[in-house]
Amino acid sequence: MPVGGNTSSPTNATEGSTALSVAFAALLVMQWVVHRFDVLTSTMDQCRAYAEAGAVEGVVVVADQQTRGRGRAGRSWYSPSGQSLYLSVLLKPRLAPHQVGWLTMIGALATATSIERSTEGKLRASIKWPNDVLVHSRKVAGVLVETAWLGDTLEYAVMGIGLNVNTTFEGAPEEIRQRAISLREALGVSLDREQMLQEILMSLGEQLDHLPAPPTSAYATRIEGMGQMVRLCVGNEIVEGRAASLREDGALVVQTESGLRAVALGELLG
Ligand code: BTN
Repeated sequence: MPVGGNTSSPTNATEGSTALSVAFAALLVMQWVVHRFDVLTSTMDQCRAYAEAGAVEGVVVVADQQTRGRGRAGRSWYSPSGQSLYLSVLLKPRLAPHQVGWLTMIGALATATSIERSTEGKLRASIKWPNDVLVHSRKVAGVLVETAWLGDTLEYAVMGIGLNVNTTFEGAPEEIRQRAISLREALGVSLDREQMLQEILMSLGEQLDHLPAPPTSAYATRIEGMGQMVRLCVGNEIVEGRAASLREDGALVVQTESGLRAVALGELLG
């Protein structure tokens, strides 16, 4: 255990901790230290608790089940036991406020890459701006980044990734059943969640190693719907137009009737 106090009150927390080098020494990009739990409210809470207790970069929290898994914009994340992968990683990159959107891009890129690698290219993964990973145009994974700042200095970031590995969605709300997919559904066979975890951590390490170079161009090649008409919810406003390009910070640039509009925070509708 790299840290002491635990403020997130995991229920039934059977914890294990392993140091995991996910690359050969010469290529080592990040030393991950994985903490496993049976049930947590959210891996985000537990990872934040480690961060607040002074943990170093590279701590990974994995839960078999979450009772209050969360997504972007206050949504919940469907988190049944024994089927999916829920992880949060503690990162401490040197990023300015305008660069922090890169972490979401990196998380989505790493997840998409790991899906393709672990299925030996049988599945192609794309990204729905900004944080959804898609297979067959349905959501297979989501990335959530939460940050803590000291003024303009990024103290730490917690990157959460939820991946529907063997998820069946039997007890899921209708909206999720319609939009989501699991790797098992797409592939017709179950995948090993532990192997998926290792692939994700390996890809994540590789992507982080490219910093401070922006991930924007690699990310842009995987974006679905570029050049097409889009509708975005931006605060209380709906923005419509053609998805024209990505700004270096990850903002989506939309050609609207009244000109180009860069959207840094928003939700693609439909
Ligand atoms: C989204 O698509 O809105 C982001 C979903 C992120 C879900 C993951 S599951 C692991 C981590 N713990 C959480 O509570 N959320 C993230």
